[in-house]
Amino acid sequence: MTADGIFIDLGSRSYRIHIGYNLLSSAGELLRGIIRGEKAMVVTNPTVGFLYGKVLREQLEKTGVLPVMAEIPDGEEFKSLSTAEGLYDLAYRCELDRRSPILALGGGVVGDLAGFVAATYLRGVPFIQVPTTLLAQVDSSVGGKVAVNHPRGKNIIGAFYQPSAVVADLAALKTLPEREVRAGMAEVIKYGVIADGEFFSWLEENLEKALNLEPAALEKIVTVSCRIKAAVVREDETDRGVRAVLNFGHTVGHAVESLTGYKIYRHGEAVALGMAAAARMAVGMGLLDRREMDRIVSILDRAGLPVNVPAHLDREDLIRSMHRDKKVVSSRLTFVLPVAMGKVEIVRDVSEEIIMAGIGN
Ligand code: NAD
Ligand code: GLY
Repeated sequence: MTADGIFIDLGSRSYRIHIGYNLLSSAGELLRGIIRGEKAMVVTNPTVGFLYGKVLREQLEKTGVLPVMAEIPDGEEFKSLSTAEGLYDLAYRCELDRRSPILALGGGVVGDLAGFVAATYLRGVPFIQVPTTLLAQVDSSVGGKVAVNHPRGKNIIGAFYQPSAVVADLAALKTLPEREVRAGMAEVIKYGVIADGEFFSWLEENLEKALNLEPAALEKIVTVSCRIKAAVVREDETDRGVRAVLNFGHTVGHAVESLTGYKIYRHGEAVALGMAAAARMAVGMGLLDRREMDRIVSILDRAGLPVNVPAHLDREDLIRSMHRDKKVVSSRLTFVLPVAMGKVEIVRDVSEEIIMAGIGN
């Protein structure tokens, strides 16, 4: 286990990601030096709260902190300003002050929402991430992107707000539905493609062990993923340049999620078919060897993830949706395309013909 965790060096906003088994039952000790107030708010949902709320509450109480437990309903549709308003109201009624931390106990939905509330309540209170999905442990809990959705688009209202600590208890993933494990694995595969060809090869060898959450494999995928994300965030905390590589697969993925009303695909599933499409585009542009594309598509397929954009989605609508993505700069479509295993390039002005060939007709 990583005793001291992974350190994200961001000057005054630096923090540690603690990764290991049964960390929830020693969370009080891990967070002792970080929590300074007498009160804290734990944001969770009924599913996760039922499983892990008690242990976290007891751990906080042990350190002399009085936790206010706040449950929001389970689902992406509750990552909203109106849910945030309910949390501001509760925090105010319970007299949480500027030193009182907000802890996010759950997946990316709880993490993004609780982080947004932490960033804005009293102009910012300490924030601690306790991610309980694979996707949240390898991606959303790290790097400080917090947001709520707007009826017109996902993550439209948000901020960069780094947590003071991340506590990723690998044992919590035992209760995660298999589909969520597979969706999280898409982001793990992403890290191999964008930054670490050796890790990708290791994943090809050990995918089943990772999907079965075998302890050594699980610890490796979470640790390597967090290290890669930490390095990218260190270089470009506010997403002005290189951080875009983390969006490999997301341009097509976001468009598919949006056109299907965020109801058909889990985020990781949409990213998977976006990564397959980007690999095809890279081959179409002569940037990537076809064998490497086959490796990417094949591992996604083995992980039980979709690799084709569904035929019923109108291709013109998809392109229009890609143009509406908040990452589009001066109406130019930008794609992160693999050029070798472990290496990607940010490519602007990809022709519509190449995009169409990538997403398939
Ligand atoms: P999620 O938060 O909806 O969790 C998925 C499901 O798993 C939920 O039903 C949840 O209740 C359940 N669950 C969580 N932990 C569990 C456990 N240990 N045992 C049993 N069930 C458990 O989904 P997600 O995939 O974790 O997150 C998706 C969200 O993350 C999206 O809103 C996306 O926009 C966001 N996201 C943010 C970033 C970022 O950098 N901030 C990156 C990627 C995704
Ligand atoms: N999930 C993309 C990012 O953190 O930048």
